[in-house]
Amino acid sequence: MTTIAPPQIRTICCIGAGYVGGPTMAVIADRCPDIQVLVVDMNTTRIAAWNDDDLAKLPVYEPGLDAVVGRCRGRNLHFSTEVDAAIAAADMVFIAVNTPTKTRGIGAGQASDLRWVEACARQVAKAAVGHTIVVEKSTLPVRTAEAVKAILEAAEDTDTTRSFSVLSNPEFLAEGTAIRDLENPDRVLIGGESTTAIHALAGVYGQWVPPEKILRTNLWSSELSKLTANAFLAQRISSINSIAALCEATEADVEEVARAIGSDSRLGPKFLKAGPGFGGSCFQKDILNLVYLCRHFGLPQVADYWESVVALNTWHQHRIAALVVQKLFGTVTGKRIAILGFAFKADTNDTRESPAIRVCRDLLEEGAILAIHDPKVDPDQIALDLGQPVGESWLHCDAVADAVTGADAAVILTEWQSYSELCWDALAPLMRQPAWVFDARAITDSLAVCLAGLNHWRVGCGMV
Ligand code: UDX
Ligand code: ADP
Repeated sequence: MTTIAPPQIRTICCIGAGYVGGPTMAVIADRCPDIQVLVVDMNTTRIAAWNDDDLAKLPVYEPGLDAVVGRCRGRNLHFSTEVDAAIAAADMVFIAVNTPTKTRGIGAGQASDLRWVEACARQVAKAAVGHTIVVEKSTLPVRTAEAVKAILEAAEDTDTTRSFSVLSNPEFLAEGTAIRDLENPDRVLIGGESTTAIHALAGVYGQWVPPEKILRTNLWSSELSKLTANAFLAQRISSINSIAALCEATEADVEEVARAIGSDSRLGPKFLKAGPGFGGSCFQKDILNLVYLCRHFGLPQVADYWESVVALNTWHQHRIAALVVQKLFGTVTGKRIAILGFAFKADTNDTRESPAIRVCRDLLEEGAILAIHDPKVDPDQIALDLGQPVGESWLHCDAVADAVTGADAAVILTEWQSYSELCWDALAPLMRQPAWVFDARAITDSLAVCLAGLNHWRVGCGMV
């Protein structure tokens, strides 16, 4: 059997300059100096921000990203809105566009909206030149590659000078640690039918990832693995949060329980941190996708099983808001409450599905006046998420001290390092007594908060 040498990849185009496309391509450009990487997006503002001389203004906040972009931009990393030209120049096109949950029509609330992926496939079909390897990077429902392939095959039929191979290469990076995850991944997954195309993509990653970490599967296994990985991770968080509620009702402490069970090598210590519930663009969306698929394939029991992971998460977020109201004598109407953290996790400016959204909306519904602080999230984004402009019912504060001044409570919703270092002795006198600290991330020192004269609640702690 003769083995065909994989094509040498000289130019990569990535459609979508978001949280996935931007950091991923920056690291590929950094690690593969011989490859020209063209990142394109139809959003002109976003591209302008990627090209801003001031690296602090990149549209995605990720520790270490500015340094990588600073090294490569203009050398072999380019950001532009010239989508067709970049596709035409590329040997390999990554599709890294958004795939939010559908809000209307069949599968609304569960299935992914694939209109942007389909638009990309059509654009690639129109603009590609010669042989092009198309790589699905966006998280997609299983069998999406089929639709992409059908569109590309139709293009092959009308112009025989062009041909395509489709690969699935799901991204496993977590926001906040994206650069570290990309530089040192647990694994890289490549699914596809064409061995030559798989080799070509493995060759790109092989420039910095050890070969044993590059896993090859069929297309469908690759797509399903991404959904499954996220479903399992989210399930662990719902599991520990369910136990946190039980700990609060007893005299147990979820941190101790997590340490005890995490020492079992079969369970492991990671992803056992109780909090305000999971957020982010992936977990809920991917589980709902899985639920939709299961129902579609006649597996309602499996669908119900996974759906309960999301239901628990939603309940847990409402539970935290309700608990704040209950501790503040059953009413928060007209009371000022400081919200510390709006991002869905620390070290990102992303608020998609952030637990803060549900908690804040519930408190606003109860008539509270929120003073919101987050070191990275833009107030305009908060206004969008809360569905109301900054003003009467909520205000934005640049400093924690401003947020807590006159407040009856401070609610910690994001685990920013700076919140674990707050001096409660200095903050307590600014608050209206009796005042509370509700720590939904378990990052404060209970003793220090109590010694400052404040009441303290910590997620999953039943000890008083
Ligand atoms: C996730 C997956 O980890 C990643 O592999 C995939 O590519 C995208 O989805 P991300 O959503 O960026 O990444 O962050 P992650 O660190 O997984 O956190 C998700 C949510 O779970 C956050 O809201 C986080 O605060 C929460 N979480 C995480 C917990 O509440 N407890 C934990 O122990 C871990
Ligand atoms: P993710 O977290 O998956 O990266 P984002 O929403 O942050 O998602 O980024 C997706 C990007 O894809 C957006 O900036 C959007 O403008 C871009 N995009 C979507 N469809 C197209 C398209 N057909 N052509 C170019 N860019 C697109």
